[in-house]
Amino acid sequence: MTPMYLWIMAFHIIAVIAWMAGMLYLPRLLVYHCAAEKGSVQSETFKLMERRLLRGIVNPAMIATWVLGLWLAWHVADSRHALLLPGWLWAKIVLVLVLSAVHGLFARWVKAFGADQNQHSARFYRIINEVPTIIMIAIVLLVVLKPF
Ligand code: HEM
Repeated sequence: MTPMYLWIMAFHIIAVIAWMAGMLYLPRLLVYHCAAEKGSVQSETFKLMERRLLRGIVNPAMIATWVLGLWLAWHVADSRHALLLPGWLWAKIVLVLVLSAVHGLFARWVKAFGADQNQHSARFYRIINEVPTIIMIAIVLLVVLKPF
């Protein structure tokens, strides 16, 4: 591992931490937002918090995680072909695609709350809150243990 590879991996992990912090906190805000009266000061404050968290942290952190992750993957790939990746990395990329889809749903729900058109209950967002947690645990086990 070259010093450059280690620097990129360090910033990859920093971006991952920021992305996961947002992915675990955002649905929590949506849970509490469900209890706020439409048009109330509380609801308008939640809208601002959700929008700023999404645009200021979660979106840029996801982009940085992908860009740095793909750079690392390119260096892990077999020298014969960039797509000759180890099994654990393919499994990891599939899980990150699922996580990115969940990110997309969060962005859609933040937009719905922004327009006072939320369709889901607090219980729904509490259950959804567990999804990024479970995916994150599986990804970290894959990349650290490299089981296959
Ligand atoms: C976006 C797609 C991603 C790609 C292509 C990717 C790829 C990689 C690669 C190739 C490494 C280096 C592995 C090594 O040399 O040992 C790495 C390290 C790491 N990745 Fe990712 N990654 C991605 C997203 C994520 C996500 C979403 C998480 C966590 C939720 C994550 C957590 C980690 C961790 C913790 C390490 C350090 C592992 C170690 O030090 O052994 N990555 N990643």
